[in-house]
Amino acid sequence: MHMDETEDLGTANPTTNRSFSEICANSLSRRSFVGGGIGLLAASFVRCGGASPNGTAKGPVGAKANSGIMIPAGFTAVPASTADTLVVPEGYTARAFVRWGDPIGSLAGHPSFAPDASNSAEEQALQFGMHHDGMAFFPLSGSRRGLMAVNHESIDAGLLLPVVFDSTNREHVQKAKNAHGVSVYEAKRRLGRWHVARQSPYARRITADTPISLSGPAAGSSALSTKADPAGRLVLGTLGNCSGGQTPWGTYLTCEENFNGYFKKTAQDAREKRYGISAKTYGGDWSIVDERFNLDLHPNEANRFGWVVEIDPFDPTSTPKKRTALGRFKHENAAVTAASDGRVVIYMGDDERNEYIYKFVSGDSAMASMSMDDLLDHGTLYVARFNDDGRGEWLPLSHGTGPLVSPAFADQAEVLTFARQAGDALGATKMDRPEWIAVHPSSGDVFCTLTNNSKRGGSGGAPTNAANPRPQNLHGHVIRWREDQADAGALEFTWDLFVMAGDPNSVSPNLRGNIPGDVFSSPDGLAFDRAGRLWIMTDVSSSAVFNETWNPNGVDYQAFGNNQMLMFDPIANEVKRFLTGPVGAEITGFALTPDGKSLFVNVQHPGEPVNGADENDPANPSKYSTWPDGGRPRSATVVITKDDDGEIGT
Ligand code: FEO
Ligand code: CA
Ligand code: CA
Repeated sequence: MHMDETEDLGTANPTTNRSFSEICANSLSRRSFVGGGIGLLAASFVRCGGASPNGTAKGPVGAKANSGIMIPAGFTAVPASTADTLVVPEGYTARAFVRWGDPIGSLAGHPSFAPDASNSAEEQALQFGMHHDGMAFFPLSGSRRGLMAVNHESIDAGLLLPVVFDSTNREHVQKAKNAHGVSVYEAKRRLGRWHVARQSPYARRITADTPISLSGPAAGSSALSTKADPAGRLVLGTLGNCSGGQTPWGTYLTCEENFNGYFKKTAQDAREKRYGISAKTYGGDWSIVDERFNLDLHPNEANRFGWVVEIDPFDPTSTPKKRTALGRFKHENAAVTAASDGRVVIYMGDDERNEYIYKFVSGDSAMASMSMDDLLDHGTLYVARFNDDGRGEWLPLSHGTGPLVSPAFADQAEVLTFARQAGDALGATKMDRPEWIAVHPSSGDVFCTLTNNSKRGGSGGAPTNAANPRPQNLHGHVIRWREDQADAGALEFTWDLFVMAGDPNSVSPNLRGNIPGDVFSSPDGLAFDRAGRLWIMTDVSSSAVFNETWNPNGVDYQAFGNNQMLMFDPIANEVKRFLTGPVGAEITGFALTPDGKSLFVNVQHPGEPVNGADENDPANPSKYSTWPDGGRPRSATVVITKDDDGEIGT
């Protein structure tokens, strides 16, 4: 019952928004990096339309000191692999560090993992959850001791228990809830090896039942009010915790993505449909034992999910906050940077076919004088329009302006809670599933993975546009933009297509990529290291990989193998494969210690069923994968170090 993100969850965006002119209609050929391939990260910026980025690039918060470092990639790339193992280059060591079910090291207890998955719900609440995704490292003492926050995006109900998941069984549902959310733990490097600190006062599990407050403009609004919480200010739990972000003031941002599948509604209104609410649930039906997931009874409960949640990892007693100023959609990650005047800027993607890219700009430039609590509650949310001429605009989601007026939107709370509809009204550009966004540490250029869109240009899909130029875009691409004056607070930008994923040797033009070096499909995770090297993590669905194996006449996935992590080396202008994962897993999460010598990466859902209907069988849990320990497959954070104790990627 794992929800395969790449499968068809329905195209919920019914509007006909698309970018404007056909000025750059042949954008793919024109933007295929004529004379530059993928385009030099640090030096070049291919433009369509002749506008010139001007001004001096501003570094993002916390990264200015590291700008300008250019260290060549020194590792030998690994080949694509279909083996059920994790491979890193020679001279590197990778070790599964924290797995689903490992004890988190809290003061409350340390229940060890039962290999037959017989741990109780109560024990699961003291163990790492399932399906590790985004994470961040917060140093406590340099690069040898820190707090780690890691998301548990969803579960595989076929692996969670020794028996078939039963939605009428309260204990089963409770264990599922306790396997969701976020883990905060203390990690220590001793004698070169990373350990989870036992008895750490910081260790904490946040689950689908943890009290979380709503803050910002939509808090207390009627759309967020429920029978259990008429004030609309306190939610139980966080769900669909995909990737996240890290603020310069030491907090973790966890992003609620596929929340809709936990809720059930017999007949949906237009707003519910737009967010994918249906009569069907994914990963079990929790509404049977917990009626708040039944929207027929509690119609506003789902409005309380789909937000960015801020967590203070340094205060285990703190109540996390859902920051409504950042809008409600299927949040992928939150890339934090700063405008020239010091305002906080957060870039965010809405991961569904034909959804939008957003940015939040905090309301005050006096960042240093504001408390952490104010920063993310006041500001303006914008949605992106990528014009076909290579220019783009940020359109404010501000009530009372343009189409964002009554009766369509009663107030700003409605604009934020139904940000997708506000984006529709403003004419935002429908993208090919925006996943992670990353900001270059010195130039400030912004990169976003558009993982794939099987319906682009087809029936029920959006027409192609310059920013999403491939019909049936099965392999995805990476888009890049530079804000005017290289100021993250600017209202206009220049964009180009950084790279089209896919095998350059593919016979099909729509599937042919322009990657210089090692090939990949479906880019998802994206992060820069301090030297400005771009790390790319992939998430090709298992169904796609297996269908290809079974059907050699299908689309070409053969070149890619299992999901992987690659590095774009801006000096060599080349993509190099750094890691290949086990069978049925996506590679995600990215955290480097400040010295760049320890890299934490997540392996999510090893042994994922080949398609949504083919569940893992508790009687035979290792049907697809036995990673990492030769038995029941378990999502895990992997820690990677270089044997000569050098910097990762060198
Ligand atoms: Fe959770 Fe869009 O990945
Ligand atoms: Ca993702
Ligand atoms: Ca994905």
